[in-house]
Amino acid sequence: MAGSIVLFGPPGAGKGTQAGKISEITGKPQVSTGDMLRSAVAEGTQLGHEAKTFMDAGLLVPDSIIIGLISERLRNDDASNGVLFDGFPRTIHQAEALEEIVSVTSVISIEVPDESIIERIVGRRMDPETGEIYHIKFKPPPEEISLRVIQRRDDTEETVRSRLTAYHEQTAPLADWYSEKGLLVRIDGDMPIEEVGKSIASKL
Ligand code: AP5
Repeated sequence: MAGSIVLFGPPGAGKGTQAGKISEITGKPQVSTGDMLRSAVAEGTQLGHEAKTFMDAGLLVPDSIIIGLISERLRNDDASNGVLFDGFPRTIHQAEALEEIVSVTSVISIEVPDESIIERIVGRRMDPETGEIYHIKFKPPPEEISLRVIQRRDDTEETVRSRLTAYHEQTAPLADWYSEKGLLVRIDGDMPIEEVGKSIASKL
């Protein structure tokens, strides 16, 4: 399998927002563990059932579930030239498991201070038909779809605080782990969406 890219950063950093453009530029399909888990919850599968309690509490889903999900996803034909991981890996254990199955060629770390995260997450809205991500202030949905946009159930201020704690304790150490391997590319994510996109594109 050709090299894969990891999109890394705290909740609300803009990983999902930037993923489409990166996929377009690199030709690598986006693989978002968050989206896969939400689909499993919506479909009412056993895996969705197990994951839901953790997601609602803003905690990480256990590594064994996530690694199984990813291993299965990577068997699809579209993964043969590498993929764009969005929100995975999130622990050193996940990163070590990933190393066994694919080669990661770069880790794009979108860096945003905690102060900006809560406003971003609480104001996020999603179009359930297209999956497009909006924000009530920073990227308002067009009028014709503004009535159908929804808010994610884990996008409450209380849950965001737990997600941030999980990020700092379990995920942030991965930045050093990848940096030591010479793979980490730091991007200032505390700029307007377009500017962040240009900055990432210039590093690809
Ligand atoms: P997941 O869905 O991955 O959530 P997350 O990492 O918390 O990331 P988000 O989707 O919240 O943020 P994002 O960086 O994609 O930001 P976005 O582009 O939407 O995971 C959900 C849950 O699933 C986890 O809590 C966990 O329980 C579980 N899970 C998933 N993966 C797991 C794993 N590997 N291991 C264990 N558990 C796992 O942007 C956010 C908002 O900001 C939007 O409204 C957007 O319009 C706006 N915005 C974006 N960029 C900018 C900008 N530059 N300026 C202003 N606003 C901006």
